[in-house]
Amino acid sequence: MCGIVGYIGPKQASTFLIDGLSKLEYRGYDSAGIAVHDGNQITIEKTIGRLANLEKKLDKHQLQGSLGIGHTRWATHGRPSDVNSHPHSDCTGNFVVVHNGIIENYMYLKEQLIAKGHIFTSETDTEVVAHLLEEHYDGDFEVAVKKVLDDISGSYALVFMTKFEPGKIICTKQDNPLVIGLGEGENFIASDIPAIINHTRRTYILSDGEMAVVTKDSVWVTNRQGVPITKKVFEVHWDAEAAEKGGYEHFMSKEIYEQPKAVRETMTSRLAKDNSHVTFEELKWSKGEMAAITKVMIVACGTAYHAGIVGKYYIESLARIPVEVDVASEFRYRSPLVDENTLAIVISQSGETLDTLAALKEAKRLGAKTMAITNVVGSSISREADQVVYTWAGPEIAVASTKAYTTQLISMAMLAIYMAGLRETITAERSQELISGLRNVPAQIHEILEDVEPIKTFAQQYGFNEDVFFIGRSLDYAVALEGALKLKEISYIHAEAYAAGELKHGTLALITEGVPVIALATQHDVYEKTLSNIKEVKARDAVVIGIAQQGDDQIKKYVDHTIFIPAADKFLAPILAVIPLQLLSYYAAVTRGCDVDKPRNLAKSVTVE
Ligand code: M6R
Repeated sequence: MCGIVGYIGPKQASTFLIDGLSKLEYRGYDSAGIAVHDGNQITIEKTIGRLANLEKKLDKHQLQGSLGIGHTRWATHGRPSDVNSHPHSDCTGNFVVVHNGIIENYMYLKEQLIAKGHIFTSETDTEVVAHLLEEHYDGDFEVAVKKVLDDISGSYALVFMTKFEPGKIICTKQDNPLVIGLGEGENFIASDIPAIINHTRRTYILSDGEMAVVTKDSVWVTNRQGVPITKKVFEVHWDAEAAEKGGYEHFMSKEIYEQPKAVRETMTSRLAKDNSHVTFEELKWSKGEMAAITKVMIVACGTAYHAGIVGKYYIESLARIPVEVDVASEFRYRSPLVDENTLAIVISQSGETLDTLAALKEAKRLGAKTMAITNVVGSSISREADQVVYTWAGPEIAVASTKAYTTQLISMAMLAIYMAGLRETITAERSQELISGLRNVPAQIHEILEDVEPIKTFAQQYGFNEDVFFIGRSLDYAVALEGALKLKEISYIHAEAYAAGELKHGTLALITEGVPVIALATQHDVYEKTLSNIKEVKARDAVVIGIAQQGDDQIKKYVDHTIFIPAADKFLAPILAVIPLQLLSYYAAVTRGCDVDKPRNLAKSVTVE
């Protein structure tokens, strides 16, 4: 949440700051602002709303100077407003700061600072940092920053600037991402790589507790005690175009259409040529270690949590290990039963979700073996976990997760086959069957994407309903959860997912004439039971859209409309069944005129608890 940028070099800082922020708007878009040092003084320009509002302001009032910091906000402390926008400054305007995260003890610090005569202008937690800097500055910027860090607690990525030292920017982080881009005679700071990739591919990824003093020619990294740290340069390999829309109207549609490629890239190097087994070169488990695992705990948030639910079905069925799935924000607070025979798997596209990171740390502390499935190389979660499996989806910019989800499902399927192989709980035939099924998935997704018109029509037809239900059994229920989240998130339609057999225990009361019900019926072993549940809602005059496998010639008799997915193994059907649901929510959001890539109140990377 929140995107931060910084620039120091020979050029006009504002050009990089605005461009960098435009690449980070997915992290928050409640307000935007920049502060630029012109050699004499610092000037701040900031405003509520999207970056475009700030650009309009800057058209009338350019900020000159080659040292600057900027911010795009996802509001936590204090509603979105001009005054609550970052950068924040002290009483004098001599110290300026941008922040991503939460200063947990800010109330206490604020009271103390007010007692000393400091005057606050915003409701934010961040403003205390600027006033603390003013309080501690005694001619040495670095010393003052260290004192501030001693005072504050919480999670943060912070970038500081002072009028008195126009040749440097200082930055630091704790539980929030921060990257330094290394240029020639210039350096860049950002929350995420897309902001700097057009300028440099050479980066330092800061770790928790590190502090960097950045000048135009140098980056000096130490820990908080001032002990120097030698950083390894991290080269960014992906293409700058991967983070652009490339002709699509929205990032979300681009990312939906990228799924065949993303899925293929995630699996190809891991499937044996003869389809006999799955290899994960990055995982170092022996048969003995795998046999010793008595429990798996999957922990994640949102869409990644839904991938975890599918993962539970896969691992329990194939590797025969009991699996618990937890929402990360709950995991730490329920005294989970974890020991050294527990494998904790966290799933996170961004690798930065704070709740997931905290759950990972907790599982580690309790003695579990840990593993992360993530899309971002070098992310906090990838560095914290004992072992990492990367999904190779490429950058996902739209707030709604699509290609990250399908690559997470692919990874979970491969992982379950791999674990089952080591535990000898899968036959060679079944393993081969599933692996050859996996190989077909990219082409099958492509096939669905070739014929989106009927889905678009349903979205236009039902996109103005205020309530939609998603039902399914077994793996179809897991997909229903994801379908409902997508619809809520981007089209603001109230959507509920129900295990189809559970409807009659209360929710059926909400099914009345014309209420749309999306019924997933792709699982052969519960097919007849699902049909019974479809009949229950039809009997209440719901409008039912069935999602079924090609070759199912019964479904049409029971539903109003059908969307067919290519025929697939029941384990792999979820990876296909979710595609029409992604498209349905996308077209519903477009029909309703919603801001598809930046839905209200949300942000891509959730780095607050
Ligand atoms: O980066 P993560 O996978 O850890 O993010 C977790 C959720 O915040 C995320 O999946 C969220 O639910 C998506 N916006 C849903 O589309």
